[in-house]
Amino acid sequence: MKAAYIENYGGSDQFKIGELPMPEIGAKDVLIEVHAASINPVDWKIRQGYLKTMISYQMPLVLGWDVAGTVSAVGSEVSNFKVGDGVFSRPNIMRQGAYAEYVAVDADLVVAKPAKLSFEQAAALPLVAHTAWEVMFEIMDLKANARIFVGAGSGGVGTVAIQLAKSHGAYVVTSTSSKNLEWVKALGADEVIDYTAQNPNDTVRGMDFILDAVGGEQQAQMYQMLKPGGMLVSITSQPNEAQAKAAGMRSAYVFMQPNGERLKKIAQAVEAGQLMPVIDSVFSLEQTKQAHDHAETGHVKGKVIIKVK
Ligand SMILES: NC(=O)c1ccc[n+]([C@@H]2O[C@H](COP(=O)([O-])OP(=O)(O)OC[C@H]3O[C@@H](n4cnc5c(N)ncnc54)[C@H](OP(=O)(O)O)[C@@H]3O)[C@@H](O)[C@H]2O)c1
Repeated sequence: MKAAYIENYGGSDQFKIGELPMPEIGAKDVLIEVHAASINPVDWKIRQGYLKTMISYQMPLVLGWDVAGTVSAVGSEVSNFKVGDGVFSRPNIMRQGAYAEYVAVDADLVVAKPAKLSFEQAAALPLVAHTAWEVMFEIMDLKANARIFVGAGSGGVGTVAIQLAKSHGAYVVTSTSSKNLEWVKALGADEVIDYTAQNPNDTVRGMDFILDAVGGEQQAQMYQMLKPGGMLVSITSQPNEAQAKAAGMRSAYVFMQPNGERLKKIAQAVEAGQLMPVIDSVFSLEQTKQAHDHAETGHVKGKVIIKVK
């Protein structure tokens, strides 16, 4: 099969486009013919070798842990999918990814693609929607009228978190740069802070929750935005727990764990009109290097897609 793969960690010039053996499927796997994959920051972080002490991959490595496509074969113990079904998934990050014509995925991570989404749109959702859902509805237990600050509202996670929080009746404050203020508001944000003009830590107050998708030095000052007893959940780095406690706040770091049940709820939210993916740009498999260079700028609007078929 044709794939974009790396043989060594490093820059985007490590990508090779060529033939790799077809993935072997186990009894509980689904073989997906990939129509589209999407890029997440974890892809280029893995490519650069940042996670090599945590996960040991076999080279050649196919990156890409967001996929939409059609079922091409099923393992002997898989009964809920058949060849030809349209599906989407956030595959297990310990396995080979989806910048390829085929990917083998654990069947319990695969869900029917929402009919109203194209394959490119469906590939834009799983990883970021899993993350926003797990943080807001499983960790924070976000309820109607709660006030939440979502950092980086124009990014992959932010665009989805804003829509899901609004559809649950929350009050959403977010941050982005000047060029994105209006369309982020159109996604549903109640207030948008231009982070190039103001530091949200200095102006936002009275939040019940913060979803930190920016991290960095500013994280330490984020508690100022919270009400007493409020909660900071970061997806970028472990917050300082002692500091949170001293300020009378709660904090957590989440590294998202996918599961099919949650992805079904995400698909239902799409069908109910509560959630639509935001696509920044679409590249071909041959343009994977350029797609990574673009995503790695950290200034994309929503998701960068690799269209394979
Ligand atoms: N722990 C987990 O399970 C998990 C899961 C998903 C993602 N993550 C992490 O979460 C982070 C965000 O992921 P993502 O997919 O949303 O990234 P992304 O799509 O690459 O985010 C890009 C967006 O960030 C905005 N941005 C950049 N600097 C900003 C700042 N200082 N303040 C506000 N917005 C800023 C940019 O807006 P402008 O163009 O306007 O600057 C751009 O729209 C990454 O570090 C990623 O690795 C972790």
